[in-house]
Amino acid sequence: MSRKTLIAANWKMYKTPAEAQAFVDAFLPLVAGHTRDEIALFPSVTSLATVVAAVAGSNVAAGLQNMHFAEEGAYTGETSAAMLKAVGATHTLIGHSERRQYFNETDEVVNKKLHTALKHGIVPVVCIGEVLAEREANHTAEVLCTQLRGAFAGITAEAAAPIVIAYEPVWAIGTGKTATPQMAVEAHQIVRAEVAKLLGADIAEAIRILYGGSVKPENACDLLCQAEIDGALVGGASLKPDSFAAIVKY
Ligand code: PGA
Repeated sequence: MSRKTLIAANWKMYKTPAEAQAFVDAFLPLVAGHTRDEIALFPSVTSLATVVAAVAGSNVAAGLQNMHFAEEGAYTGETSAAMLKAVGATHTLIGHSERRQYFNETDEVVNKKLHTALKHGIVPVVCIGEVLAEREANHTAEVLCTQLRGAFAGITAEAAAPIVIAYEPVWAIGTGKTATPQMAVEAHQIVRAEVAKLLGADIAEAIRILYGGSVKPENACDLLCQAEIDGALVGGASLKPDSFAAIVKY
C-alpha cells in the first residue's frame, strides 16, 4: 500500500495577496526538502496567482477552494477550470461543507464539478461529512455513502485515479472538537468500502482519504499516524506558517 499523504491548507476567506506571500516566504524554508508528504495550499481566488508564483519550483502545490462546473458563461462571481489552470494552479476543493451550507451546493453540483475537474486534469479534493444531528441519529454511514454516490455518479474507474476525498465531520470544523482517531478511522473505512463498490477494489485501495476538522499540531500525529488516514485538510491551524509546518511534519 503506497498512498502518499497529502497535507492541505484551506485558508477560506482569509489572507490578502501580501499576506499570502508573507506566509509562503516564511513557510517554504520550514518544509524545504520535506518529501514524505505532498503539501497543497488553497488560498482565496485573489491570492491564487501570488501563491502559484511564490511556490514555483518548490514541493508545495496550489489550488482553488471552489470551481464552477461550466466551461465559461454568465456565472457572476465564479471561476472556471480554464481560469484555474491558466494561473498555474493544479488542485481544487469541491463540495466543502461551507459551500454546501451557505451556497446550496448539492451532491448533483458536486458531481458536475468533479466531472469538470477531471476533464481538465485538475486534482479534485471532494469533501464529504455528516452534521452533528446525523451522527447523533446514527446516520453517519448512510450520509457519507449518499454523498459519495452523488459525487461519483458517472465517474469511471479509468478517470478516478486523481480523486482525493476529504472526510470532514461538519461538527468538527472550526469548533475545536476533533473526531477521535477511532471515529475518523471508522468513517474512512466506510468511505473506502463504498468507493470499492462504486469504482472497484483497486481504486478504493489507492484513493487518498484525508481527515479534516480541527486538525492542530497537537493532534496531527494521533490522526495522521493511522494507516487509514491519508492526510489532512486544515483550516484554522493552516493560517500560521509554523503551525501548518508542524502539522506537515507530524
Ligand atoms: P478547521 O477547518 O481545521 O478550522 O476545523 C477545516 C476545514 O474546513 O477544511
